[in-house]
Amino acid sequence: MNQGGDALLPSEPAKQKYVQSMFDRIAPSYELVNRVMTFGLDARWRSRLVDAVTGAGVDRALDIGCGTGDLVRELSRRGVGVTGLDLSMGMLAIAGGAEPRVQAVGEALPFSDSTFDAVTSGFAVRNFSDPRRVFAEVARVLKPGGRFGVLEVATPRNPLIRVGHQIYFSKVVPVIGGLLSKDHTAYRYLPMSVVYLPSPQEWGRLLVDCGFFPPTRIRVGMGAAQIVIAERRAA
Ligand SMILES: C[S@@+](CC[C@H](N)C(=O)[O-])C[C@H]1O[C@@H](n2cnc3c(N)ncnc32)[C@H](O)[C@@H]1O
Repeated sequence: MNQGGDALLPSEPAKQKYVQSMFDRIAPSYELVNRVMTFGLDARWRSRLVDAVTGAGVDRALDIGCGTGDLVRELSRRGVGVTGLDLSMGMLAIAGGAEPRVQAVGEALPFSDSTFDAVTSGFAVRNFSDPRRVFAEVARVLKPGGRFGVLEVATPRNPLIRVGHQIYFSKVVPVIGGLLSKDHTAYRYLPMSVVYLPSPQEWGRLLVDCGFFPPTRIRVGMGAAQIVIAERRAA
């Protein structure tokens, strides 16, 4: 996992402030840019993530890095009582709906042990300052047997698709995002921020170290995104 370190890819302690201020700025156009740049596929991926963590006995969920609330709304539609948590007040302010929203960081969750039946996080892991601390916090607030489901970007395995994806993600997305949001810096950060993502092996190791069974990883969108599901071991 690359820790970043330059102006566009800061490392801790600067990263948290940088990420917070960036999402505060792009909040008003965030959902529009997402829909356009994923051709609407992100809604399908979120639904698949929610399918994987919900089911009988899942009544209470937490969404970390909830942003403007796409996953919160999807969980709520399935009848799950969900709390959204994010560090950006700008993103939380855009989110409508009656579900509780909390401004806090995933690295220090303001909830008691074993509070939730499921925890989700969409496109947020690479923005966390300390993913290991977030995963440990998720394990603490999840009930044993509860599922943690993550949606994140990924790099396609097929070489041809990978080249096309690389051009799209690094050249086209910054232009579309910059035009729609008027924030060119934020949408230059987006493709570069994949360097913060754990490798598949690191995902497994981190989650197991933090108290989960080895995770399942599902590639979606021809490998441009991934869903990682891990079940909380009994303490
Ligand atoms: C790319 S957005 C994703 C929003 C939403 N989950 C979605 O799927 O559209 C990432 C979100 O994670 C939040 N975030 C980043 N680091 C965080 C942290 N350490 N704790 C809580 N939220 C964080 C950001 O403020 C931002 O709203």
